[in-house]
Amino acid sequence: MIISSPSDYRAAAKKTLPPFLFHYIDGGSYGEHTLRRNVDDLADVALKQRVLNDMSELDLSSEIFGEKMDLPISLSPVGLTGMYARRGEVQAAKAAENKGIPFTMSTVSVCPIEEVVPAIQRPMWFQLYVLKDRGFMKNVLERAKAAGVRTLIFTVDMPVPGARYRDMHSGMSGSFAAPRRIMQAMRHPKWALNVGLLGKPHDLGNVSAYRGEPTNLEDYIGWLGDNFDPSISWKDLEWIREFWGGPMIIKGILDEEDAKDAVKFGADGIVVSNHGGRQLDGVLSSAKALPAIADAVKGDLKIFVDSGIRSGLDVVRMLALGADCAMLGRSYIYALAAQGQQGVENLLELYDKEMRVAMTLTGAKCIRDLDRNSLIHSP
Ligand code: FNR
Ligand code: LAC
Repeated sequence: MIISSPSDYRAAAKKTLPPFLFHYIDGGSYGEHTLRRNVDDLADVALKQRVLNDMSELDLSSEIFGEKMDLPISLSPVGLTGMYARRGEVQAAKAAENKGIPFTMSTVSVCPIEEVVPAIQRPMWFQLYVLKDRGFMKNVLERAKAAGVRTLIFTVDMPVPGARYRDMHSGMSGSFAAPRRIMQAMRHPKWALNVGLLGKPHDLGNVSAYRGEPTNLEDYIGWLGDNFDPSISWKDLEWIREFWGGPMIIKGILDEEDAKDAVKFGADGIVVSNHGGRQLDGVLSSAKALPAIADAVKGDLKIFVDSGIRSGLDVVRMLALGADCAMLGRSYIYALAAQGQQGVENLLELYDKEMRVAMTLTGAKCIRDLDRNSLIHSP
């Protein structure tokens, strides 16, 4: 299969992965309208072409929380990454490090914190979910801190999981899910060997390290519903703020009032995100929500954004709309599933090249030059 563009990785991942995993990654909630809008609204953001500005020197680097970023990109937290490639979190973290950007580990990763941190030099970022078992939250934060994690992403848009109807059809959940998954694995021998057999243990590594026993992944989707805590509020964050000490980013902001509350709370950053259209279907795309949020809080904290970014051009668009840094979810996961660490590194090179062309032809010599003037109509 020939890979020449970032979007080629989706088809490659579809070929490699058993359908229950591909559709878990690829799908959104309910009718998947927000999932589609994330991509379509971003593609509609028109860049303004400017020429003859001597664009021979470009600088794509920036600094976030004292960390050097070679690209204004970081990897979003994605659950079960170790099911898409063998010990996938380790591979993704190494790829990110080699390309000079941060990797974020999900609370519900396959590899535990203690497996990934020693594999890289660059500090990993950690994403926290609040589970009903607050003892777990305390334990996992202590372990992250002890391992040298400084930056914490606290995800707040999943107090309950949105209904992912695709999962019931694909064998991720629903009736006869386990035998269906085995049948699918048999039809995807490369995955079955590399990940199914050689990628064990298949576990929620952070949770099982705390509980001292394997987490049963038989009904992962059911597990999320049973363990996530809908009572979460700003009060929960205060304790974490005090305990944590390092930079804290709140992920899942889509409204400017919530963004202002994040500033009041003292957050160091927010991620403008609708969880990739996996939570409340029908909400605004990130590209549509971002400008008003940037108008409200730009400069008060770092603005990250994800949901719908599929190319270097999309990164440029998000920066022009007001973000300080873009985050990749599915885009990097498809590359990881298709070609492991090498796939993610190739993907980031493609992003780099696309960004350079877009910056050259919008007259932006550095990241800071990208703003609304780089666009035709500010939405
Ligand atoms: C996610 N996302 C996510 N977010 C988070 O904070 N913790 C998590 O464990 C997960 N898990 C997860 C699994 C899968 C398979 C996907 C696709 C996504 C959401 C993720 O961080 C990000 O917000 C979205 O992926 C962004 O949308 P795009 O760019 O993938 O469309
Ligand atoms: C998801 C959760 C794990 O989107 O964040 O599937």
